Amino acid sequence: MEQSELYAGKQRQSTIYEAVQMRIREGEWKQHDKLPSVRAMAERMQVHRLTVLKAYQQLADEGILYAKYKSGYFVGPLEDFETGVSSEQSWTYQAKPVYVNQSRLSDIHRHSVDYQMAEALIDPQLLPNAYMSNYVKEVFDLYPRVLSTYSSVMGDLELREAMAQFYLDKYGVSVDAAELMITTGSQQAIDLISRALVKPGDKVLIERPTYSPAIDAFLQHRIQLFAVEITPSGYDMAEIEAIMKQERPRLFYMNPTFQNPTGYTVPVHQRKQLIELAERYDCLLVEDDVYQDIYFGSPPPPPFFYYDTEGYVIYIRSFSKYVAPGLRISILAARPSVMSSIVPVKALSDNGTPLLNQKIFQHYFFSSRLQEHVVKLRTALDIRRAKMEQMLAGGWRFDSPNGGLNLWVQVPQSLSVEELLHRSLAQSMAFVPGSICDPLGGMKDRLRLSYSYMNESKLTEGIQRLVTLADELMNDKNGQVG
Ligand SMILES: Cc1ncc(COP(=O)(O)O)c(C=O)c1O
Repeated sequence: MEQSELYAGKQRQSTIYEAVQMRIREGEWKQHDKLPSVRAMAERMQVHRLTVLKAYQQLADEGILYAKYKSGYFVGPLEDFETGVSSEQSWTYQAKPVYVNQSRLSDIHRHSVDYQMAEALIDPQLLPNAYMSNYVKEVFDLYPRVLSTYSSVMGDLELREAMAQFYLDKYGVSVDAAELMITTGSQQAIDLISRALVKPGDKVLIERPTYSPAIDAFLQHRIQLFAVEITPSGYDMAEIEAIMKQERPRLFYMNPTFQNPTGYTVPVHQRKQLIELAERYDCLLVEDDVYQDIYFGSPPPPPFFYYDTEGYVIYIRSFSKYVAPGLRISILAARPSVMSSIVPVKALSDNGTPLLNQKIFQHYFFSSRLQEHVVKLRTALDIRRAKMEQMLAGGWRFDSPNGGLNLWVQVPQSLSVEELLHRSLAQSMAFVPGSICDPLGGMKDRLRLSYSYMNESKLTEGIQRLVTLADELMNDKNGQVG
């Protein structure tokens, strides 16, 4: 057999392996449920029976499935599976975790696929990789001992001072280096806030839909979530006020600029109004600002942080998307009364973000090269956004975003997004199902498609395949009904 054929066979086998795992994890197939027969699965996934058999056998070898003579394959005991460490054959050990945690987005990201529409990440080919590697060498010349020490818990002072100056120059916001913390991505900032500022039983406001890992991070702490819709014109301010008045939420986690997943931006008048409400009802506003620099027309309004005079806004600004994703650098700004609660949690978490990453970031972020690059990047991403929209036009519904990396799409009610995801993964395509972005678990007719990761030809192909698959599913369903 040709090497390439062998590889393709392995790929198909691992796709089935992953798809089965996902259905079990999401609770669709429960402990001791019977799996579709090898033949039925082969037909459904359009692969050879032997491929399915090998995938089932691999899962059985790992204890995720078990086989019954002449009856087929069944889902194995779930406590072994849900730990997420099944690939290490952990079930042979006695020790088991007591609690099951979830990160639904990373479950989808674990699948390595050819058509990547689930990752809100920029195509590595759009980043100046050779240029960045030169910077790395310069950093070692400038700071020969950079790897010989820790950073401070708050982050490198030189970088924090430079960022304080940046906020002043760019937004006219006066912030001291002591009010800035360098975190390992915004993801870490969200987690630190969830651990430092809420306790079990607290109430937290959150947008609907929202960035799914934020839901999972807050839910780790057994808090009560209250959802407020975000629409193209922003929030329903009366609803927010009513919730703040009645429920007294501890904080409101929001992503108000080119929101993930919708791409919507909260208008200036609501920004000012919300700060007033936060002061009146003593509710912290956590502003997660990842896409501020990724706009296609005019720049977005200033962040909430700019309007805040009383220290109610905690501002998280990630630079991890477009500066150098591998560095995972984000900046958390909070006034001292709030920062003092977050610092110990950061110390317990990692004692400080790696110094080397901070130095490389600083050196590159303030270079003229990066600033020029961002301008080109916006154009390249805008072209991909337009391509995706053109491919979807006339079928699925969406609002065209003015920035960010995602398209929030509504599909016909007759299409099961879960089934589409399941079948897509089997065909090496990934996207984010809307339901995991909804704190209420609805929005089952939505999905998030990221246009930033694939080049135009791959994007065109990927969308074509996805739409064709969706049409097939709907036709199958119509056929069954008729
Ligand atoms: C709204 C939002 N917050 C946080 C993050 C995580 O960012 P980082 O890569 O800095 O951890 C993302 C990434 O997609 C995001 O979209």
